[in-house]
Amino acid sequence: MKHPELETLRQTTTDEDQRVYWEQEHGFRRSDHPIVRYFASQRWQMIKRHLDASEVHTALDLGCGDGFSTLYAPDDWEIVCCDASLHMLRGNTHSKKALADACALPFADNTFDLVYTWELLHHVETPRTAMIEMRRVSKRFVLIFEPNPYNPAQLAFSYVDKEHSWVRRNTFSHLPGLAKQAGLRIVWSTIGGLIFPNKTPQWLFPLLRLLPFRLPLFGISQVLLLEKT
Ligand SMILES: C[S@@+](CC[C@H](N)C(=O)[O-])C[C@H]1O[C@@H](n2cnc3c(N)ncnc32)[C@H](O)[C@@H]1O
Repeated sequence: MKHPELETLRQTTTDEDQRVYWEQEHGFRRSDHPIVRYFASQRWQMIKRHLDASEVHTALDLGCGDGFSTLYAPDDWEIVCCDASLHMLRGNTHSKKALADACALPFADNTFDLVYTWELLHHVETPRTAMIEMRRVSKRFVLIFEPNPYNPAQLAFSYVDKEHSWVRRNTFSHLPGLAKQAGLRIVWSTIGGLIFPNKTPQWLFPLLRLLPFRLPLFGISQVLLLEKT
C-alpha cells in the first residue's frame, strides 16, 4: 500500500544518494575529541543502567562510522564494526571491521549478544529490512539510537540536509512499530540528550554537560533497548 507522506519523503533522498554522501569527507571531529568522548561515554553509562553489561560478550556496531560508538563501549566486549562506507571504515581504527549493507548482513543467525546502531536507520531507505536483519544476527538484544524529529534542531537539520530528511519518519510510533514487526519487544526506551558530537560549539558544552540525559519530548535522540521475543 502506498503511503503518500513516505512517497514525498522518498523524493528527497535515496539509498544511492546515501552511498555517495557517506563516501565523502564531512570533517567530523576525531573520536578522541572531548565533546565526542563525553557524548559517547554518557550514552554507554546510561545504557549500562538498563542492560547488564556482563550479559554481553559479543556485539555488532552497525553503521559504526568512524567508530566512537565502539571506542567508548565496555572494554571487555568483543565488537565487530560494520558499515556500508569504505571511506568511513578507513577512518575507523577498530581492529575488527566489516564492509556490508545493513539490509544484507554477512553474519549467521544469532551471532552477537547485542546488535546496536547509533544514528543509522534514518540513512536507510528500508529500515524495516535493517531491523529484521539486526534481529536475525542478534542472539538477544538490539539497541537503537535515532534522531528525534520533535527536537527543533533535528527537525531543522532534516530540511537543510537532504541526506537527513528521513529523520522525519521517526514519529514516536515509527521505531516501536518497526521493532514489533521484526519480533522485538521494548525493554526500555527514553528520549534525551542535547549534545551533538560534531556540531555542539565548544562554548556551549560546559553548560549542556550540566544537564541530565533524559529530556522527554525534546531531547535530540530516541533510544530503544529491545529484546527478541
Ligand atoms: C550518522 S553516521 C553514524 C556513525 C556512528 N554510528 C556514529 O554514531 O558516529 C551513519 C553511518 O551509517 C552508515 N550507513 C548508511 N547507510 C548504511 C547502510 N545501508 N548499511 C550500513 N551502514 C550504513 C554510514 O556510512 C555512516 O557511517
